[in-house]
Amino acid sequence: MTVEKLSVVGTRVRKVDGYELVTGKAKYAGDMRFPGLVYGYAARSKVCAGRITRIGIDAARKAEGVLAVFTGKDIPGLNLIGVLPPHDQPVLATDVIRYAGESIALVVATSHQAARRAARLVELDIEPFEPILSAEDALKEGARKIHESGNVTYAKKLVKGDAEKGFAQADVILENTYTTSNQDHAYIEPEVVCVIPSGDGRVTVYASCQSPFHLRGLIAANLALPASRVRVVQAYTGGSFGGKDDVASEIGILATVAAMKLGRPVTIAHEREESMIGSTLRHSARITIKTGAKKDGTLVARRISILLDGGAYASESPFVTMKTMVHSPGPYRIDNIYVESTTAYTNKTYCGAFRGFGVPQVTFASESQMDELALKLGMDPLQLRLKNALRAGDANATGQSFETSVGLVETINAIDARRKTLPALPASDDHWLYGRGISCMLQGISNGAEGVDVVGASVQLSQDGSAVVAVGLTELGQGGRTVYAQITAEVLGIPLSKVTVRQVDTDTVHDSGPTVASRSTTVGGMAVKIAAVEVKKSLVSMAALMFKTDEKLIVLKDDFAMLSVDENARIPLRDVATAAYWTGFPLMNLSFSHAPDAAFDHETHQGRIYIAYGYATHLFDIRVERGTGKVEILRHLACHDVGKVVNPVGLEGQVEGGSLFGFGLAHMEEILFRDGRIINANFADYALPSIKDRLPTETMIVEDANPTGPYGAKGVGEPPVAGAASAFANAVADATGIRFRKLPITRQDILVALKRAEAGR
Ligand code: MOS
Repeated sequence: MTVEKLSVVGTRVRKVDGYELVTGKAKYAGDMRFPGLVYGYAARSKVCAGRITRIGIDAARKAEGVLAVFTGKDIPGLNLIGVLPPHDQPVLATDVIRYAGESIALVVATSHQAARRAARLVELDIEPFEPILSAEDALKEGARKIHESGNVTYAKKLVKGDAEKGFAQADVILENTYTTSNQDHAYIEPEVVCVIPSGDGRVTVYASCQSPFHLRGLIAANLALPASRVRVVQAYTGGSFGGKDDVASEIGILATVAAMKLGRPVTIAHEREESMIGSTLRHSARITIKTGAKKDGTLVARRISILLDGGAYASESPFVTMKTMVHSPGPYRIDNIYVESTTAYTNKTYCGAFRGFGVPQVTFASESQMDELALKLGMDPLQLRLKNALRAGDANATGQSFETSVGLVETINAIDARRKTLPALPASDDHWLYGRGISCMLQGISNGAEGVDVVGASVQLSQDGSAVVAVGLTELGQGGRTVYAQITAEVLGIPLSKVTVRQVDTDTVHDSGPTVASRSTTVGGMAVKIAAVEVKKSLVSMAALMFKTDEKLIVLKDDFAMLSVDENARIPLRDVATAAYWTGFPLMNLSFSHAPDAAFDHETHQGRIYIAYGYATHLFDIRVERGTGKVEILRHLACHDVGKVVNPVGLEGQVEGGSLFGFGLAHMEEILFRDGRIINANFADYALPSIKDRLPTETMIVEDANPTGPYGAKGVGEPPVAGAASAFANAVADATGIRFRKLPITRQDILVALKRAEAGR
């Protein structure tokens, strides 16, 4: 790649929407008020499994302030949600209850409180089933079928080489089972929608949502309307992390049904409890890994079996199943791999997309075992990883090789070099146990085999030389708008302050698929760059006419068009833009990025799955208090290969935030079920990191340019989660000498294990 000299991309810039966010000026869906606005609240099942014999709504309907109560029969269209086949989830259950928290009716009233009070009066008569509460139970011979199709949500396998032959060559073989718990997205803003019927047969849906086109499609299908009658406008969204795909659909459909029937604006805003029990969680997992290695540490085979508990409905489980499978062997060169990955239905809150998309769970298992292997071989854990690390040209687990942008070795070397500059950890004493943990990881970037990778973006330049950019991907706090603004400013040579990036409005941008899989910067940024380059052509043509010179000599920079041979010869860009307009050169362009399509064998998953991978190495230094099990984080290094940094500030934010998610998964967060019901659906009982737990993360960067991203960039939204969770677990094992093969490893777990070890049990 030729190295371009860049003036905006790669510089530290403030978030373009930072000011309105921190001053409270940004309008969230819950801030919206319209004349005649009424409030919806769903009645939910308290039991987790059974056949519905009656839903009684008369008492609720007569309650004070109630305008209407809707059940599944009132949904004109499919009464079905689900991102992917098997589309197995009713919006409102009419027949069978499959988890505690499932919505059965929507109450609409003049206030949120009135709707909430009346929802308690909805009666549910049910013929209970024996609940199935674990994936293992679901797959037992003769188990009751949760869905007609059975209890396997999705199952796939990956075959590379011959695992058994590989094990035959091994000097050392390890086999262990690791488990992980559910995690809640826990965004600051729970799910909210506000739907306005416009009287012409259309509706406008303001939503705190992740994927507006997905929402539009599901609303249309459930309202039996053409999609063209539904306009979804993404409101400012206070976090999503994978969570506001499914749930935004559920409440978006319900609010639209009510709004169309009542002819009034309707809002539904979840409370925290609903956000936890009635929405997707991170899949809990049981992962068995068998690894074979030579004495010198060379990995020769891995055999992996993954069982995910998907809860009551499929949601995105099919893709999560695949993603865990592809990532479970880790970022290593291994010739012989066999992986089976299965998601099972259970009578629990359903699981779906969650930052990392299954990769944190399998990386924890894989990286724990890498450390166990290092211990057994008497090797330095970092050296063991370096020895096996994927390099450019190596075939990864799916047999795909990349000629560039495989920066794992550089991340390992960077951590190693930094490690050598660190003071040695103090020796453990009577009070503290000290430990260091490292991990390596990879994460497929963008949809790849999970869908087509197309994003549409438009860049519209005004006569004054300012630009409005629209992209079909949403800002969820990850900094997408800032990245798009930087790229536009870079291409057009205008200051960042002259670029505005719109929130997504489905009427005005092209369907760009979901905003997921660390794809905003990579494929969204690429679309913006292409559109901006088209607009630039008009400016360059105009400037060449004005200078009476060749287009090749024109440079757009610092808000001027100038001559490359004499930068003092310059015309303000606004004058060029105005002249271009009056000359009839187009100042607006809609373009698409279309990343290379996946191509692979569906039986073995050998082939091209993702367009690029992000790589990272993390290191934690910790100390554990013997008497209490308390963990203190002394140091956290996170080194990521991101291809090219677009905004270092945003990147650090993603690495710090993603790492904190991983830390929460590894140390604190656990959804607790009793008899199939979540018993800690609030932030008092569900422990999660707060600002006080902020990690002392030192973000380190490797830039190995990615040809499928703008300026070489690769997304980094998800990768830190897996890196931090795995390194943390390894640090705990190093400090305590006890290997916990489960997440979270809570303070209590550590204390109990330490006491047991002390007592010699
Ligand atoms: Mo994300 S977990 O790819 O929505």
